[in-house]
Formats: sequence, C-alpha cells, structure tokens
Amino acid sequence: MTVKRIAVVGAGAMGHQIAMLSALAGYETYLQDISEDSLEAADRKLKDILNRWIEKEKLTAEAYEEAFHHLHMTTSLEEAAGQADLVVEAVVEKLDLKREVFSKLDEITPRHAVLATNSSTIVSSLIADATTKPEKVCNMHFFFPALVMDCVEVVKGEHTSDETAQTVMDVCHQMGRTAILLHKEISGFVANRILFAIQKEAMHLYEGGYADFEDIDKIVRNALNHPIGPFELMDLSGLDVGYYVMEQHYQETGDPDDRPSQTLVEKVEAGELGRKTGKGFYTYDRKVKS
Ligand SMILES: NC(=O)c1ccc[n+]([C@@H]2O[C@H](COP(=O)([O-])OP(=O)(O)OC[C@H]3O[C@@H](n4cnc5c(N)ncnc54)[C@H](O)[C@@H]3O)[C@@H](O)[C@H]2O)c1
Repeated sequence: MTVKRIAVVGAGAMGHQIAMLSALAGYETYLQDISEDSLEAADRKLKDILNRWIEKEKLTAEAYEEAFHHLHMTTSLEEAAGQADLVVEAVVEKLDLKREVFSKLDEITPRHAVLATNSSTIVSSLIADATTKPEKVCNMHFFFPALVMDCVEVVKGEHTSDETAQTVMDVCHQMGRTAILLHKEISGFVANRILFAIQKEAMHLYEGGYADFEDIDKIVRNALNHPIGPFELMDLSGLDVGYYVMEQHYQETGDPDDRPSQTLVEKVEAGELGRKTGKGFYTYDRKVKS
C-alpha cells in the first residue's frame, strides 16, 4: 500500500517528534491534539531542534523549509485524519482513551487507512475491536526521543494483516528508522520488558535501602556499561509516563508485583515528574533541554 498522508494524534513528548520524522521523510503530515497549548509547544520545540540541526550542519535550510511545508497542525481530528493513509496514535497511555480515539478514527478515516498505536505497552488487540477494521490495526512503537532514537518495534497481532505490518515497516524505513517486526503480541514488547525488569529491580534495591538511587545509577553505568542509569532514565522519560505504563501493565496482569512502586506514586502525586518539571529523582535547571 502506498502511503502519502500521515496523521499523528497527540502532540506530546512522542507525537510531535514522530510527526517531524514523517514530514522530514516527505509525507504530507498532520499533527493533531485536543490542546492548542500542546500544538504551540510542539511547533516551538520542533523549530528549536531543527534550527540546532542547521547550526550543526545536520540539516539544510531548504530541508527545514520543506519539512515545515509538509507539517500541518490542527485540533480537528477530521482535518488531520479524514484523508490519511496511516494514523499514528500517540495520546496518553490510557486504554479507554486510546479505544475512544480509535473508534473515532474508524468513523472518519478512509477504509484503506492503517491505524497504528505508539503505546509503550498496550498490545493493539486490546484496541483493534474498537474499530470495524482490526486487520488494519497494529503497534508502531517509537522510542524517546523519536527524532534521535533509531529503533521502532512493529508488533503484529493475530488480527493484523501482513499488508498492514508491511506498510508500517515500509514507512519506518522511509523515515530512516530501523524497524523490527514482532510476530506475536506481548505486553511491553521487547525493549520495555527488558527495561522494566531493570527499573523494577533498581526500585526494589532503592526502596529496600540497599543503596541510594545515585549509587545504583553509578553502578549500572560503571559496571554494566549502560550509558545512563535507571533513575536518570526514569527522570528523562517522565515519571508520570512510567507510572501510567506500570498501572496499565498491572491492570493487564493483575499481579500486585507489577503495581507502580510507592516511591513512584509519591513522586507523581507531588508533581515531581522528572526533567520536564525540573525535579524527579534528581533536580534540574528548568531550562535543561531533554
Ligand atoms: N514518553 C516516552 O518515553 C514514550 C516512549 C514511547 C512510547 N510512548 C507512548 O506514546 C504515547 C504518548 O506518550 P507521550 O509521552 O508523548 O505523552 P504526553 O503526555 O507527552 O502527550 C500526550 C498528548 O496527547 C494529547 N491528548 C490527550 N487526549 C487526546 C485526544 N483525545 N486526542 C488528541 N490528543 C490528545 C495531550 O494533550 C498531550 O499533548 C503513550 O501511549 C506512551 O506510552 C511514550
């Protein structure tokens, strides 16, 4: 299937960068969000990033103009997705909300349109039945920050057609990303399952008083050669994001061990969400760019 027009729903941490990847790849791209503020912030952040790329000679001024020429921002889902060949949903990690969005997309998108979710954990079979075309639904999981991270996990459910999976793989390649196809669904997919196992153990060690979080990060960096420690990474991707992911995972498994940890709950309730709020496990200069 030939994709010409892509809609990205949700202009937050992930959505705005996925939309820019799409625009840079030459797709006519629509970025939609219910919040005007999110769209304005998205526009500002993208201009900042691309201007820095020009300064570093990673992008030409012509390519900048071209990309913004392809990128349209709107609060109207109909305008964004009404003629889309592919929709990438990147709203908050809440199953009910995603099902509501997919049900609306089912009504307004052309019959041939592929509907993909960028969810970090939710398998698309939990969403596909909110539509009348489950064969067109799959996971397309980018990593944060999407303009930098190369990998995309494409997950095929039993309901997903081969053509749908291939279409999404082709789009990833066109965006210059390394796409990897998972043949079977599993909550959290591959990268995040491995990451969660590390973060869960790091939190267990911290809450058990075995070591401070800074020292756990230091050990993981120095002994395991990870570029960044688990607490630094939680701060970077947002503690609220981690919280919702764990809450969703817990709802799926029912295993009390999968619940968000006490520390995470307290931090989210206190609004200490990591780099984006200036404080998480660590404290940041608010102007630091993530
Ligand atoms: N942040 C990460 O590290 C990361 C990485 C990979 C995947 N993801 C996944 O990407 C998705 C989005 O995460 P995020 O970190 O960008 O979240 P975010 O909170 O930064 O952004 C979500 C955006 O969705 C918008 N939104 C809410 N309801 C909407 C609706 N009905 N229609 C349109 N827009 C709506 C919000 O206004 C907000 O701008 C989640 O499913 C998450 O699991 C996140």
